[in-house]
Amino acid sequence: MKEIDWSTLGFHYTEPDYIVRAACHNGVWEEPYATKDKFLHLHVSATCLQYGQEAFEGLKAFRGVDGKIRIFRWRENAKRMARSAEGLYMTPVPEELFGKAIRLALENNLDLLPPYGTGATLYFRPLLIGTTPRLGVGPGRDFEFIVIPSPIGPYYPGKFHCTTFIVNRHVDRAAPNGTGQFKVGGNYAASFRATEAAHALGYDCLFLDAKYHRYIDECSAANFIGVKGNEYLTPRSSAILPSITNDSLMTLAKEKGMKVTRRHIRLEELAHMSEAAACGTACVISPIDRVLDPEKNRTYTFGTEPGPVLTELYHALRDIQFGRAEDKHHWCDIID
Ligand SMILES: Cc1ncc(COP(=O)(O)O)c(C=O)c1O
Repeated sequence: MKEIDWSTLGFHYTEPDYIVRAACHNGVWEEPYATKDKFLHLHVSATCLQYGQEAFEGLKAFRGVDGKIRIFRWRENAKRMARSAEGLYMTPVPEELFGKAIRLALENNLDLLPPYGTGATLYFRPLLIGTTPRLGVGPGRDFEFIVIPSPIGPYYPGKFHCTTFIVNRHVDRAAPNGTGQFKVGGNYAASFRATEAAHALGYDCLFLDAKYHRYIDECSAANFIGVKGNEYLTPRSSAILPSITNDSLMTLAKEKGMKVTRRHIRLEELAHMSEAAACGTACVISPIDRVLDPEKNRTYTFGTEPGPVLTELYHALRDIQFGRAEDKHHWCDIID
């Protein structure tokens, strides 16, 4: 039994007891298995190393108020990973295998599932890598699917707080119709120059569309959402990752009578929004207090406290995840 101080657990990697692995050769997947070995015996010319043929996911399991374990919308992660795999010419992981591997990772690391009330959760990082040795440019035929579990602390250990974003027009995250819509490592490596430059100034990076630098694409590694009157606004773009959190929040926003619109959003429209936020699995909602656009000498402000609409949506989704509210859409797989 691991001794973990849940109250000080941060938002970083804690070594699990077991990871789960499954191999695929020439289109045929083998059964997943749990192993304590965290190292791979990988050929130096593997396509994941040479050409970035890899994709990953992120999802969470929650210990609910009733003591039951809930895994949130893992089938959506499985589907998105299958799209990422197809986008990078990899053999998709079948949904059933994906689910089995998550269950195995959970069952073999039950003592890493944080107790209810700590705000902490068990995060799963599914990873798909190309393992065929190849020096000639091209895709491989062999893959490894890995699930790495890690308990993570609450994103907001104290108060639900705001972050500030800064616009960067000099580094693009992903091209229209490129790989931005897939969850692949290359997108993140490509964004590091911009995100680290923003961090050095104490901010997070707001990415605009790469073609016109006019429309909002993504907030670092999260989708953008804004509130304008009774409207929930979020960007439509072929360069952004379809966020499962955003999809869930859109459903909840509709349920509470909001108009939900997905369209190109010009940066200047921020001036007409009452609330703005980044959303994703890690934070659910991370409210934005300001967006700085130093090149245009403009600052968009949303106040220093999270707004009422996004605060309500944040709690509505967290309540479903922790079993405090009815799960009408069957988003959680419950494990007794
Ligand atoms: C680039 C990017 N956009 C958006 C998201 C949010 O997606 P989700 O809500 O599925 O975590 C993530 C995180 O996975 C991300 O990496």
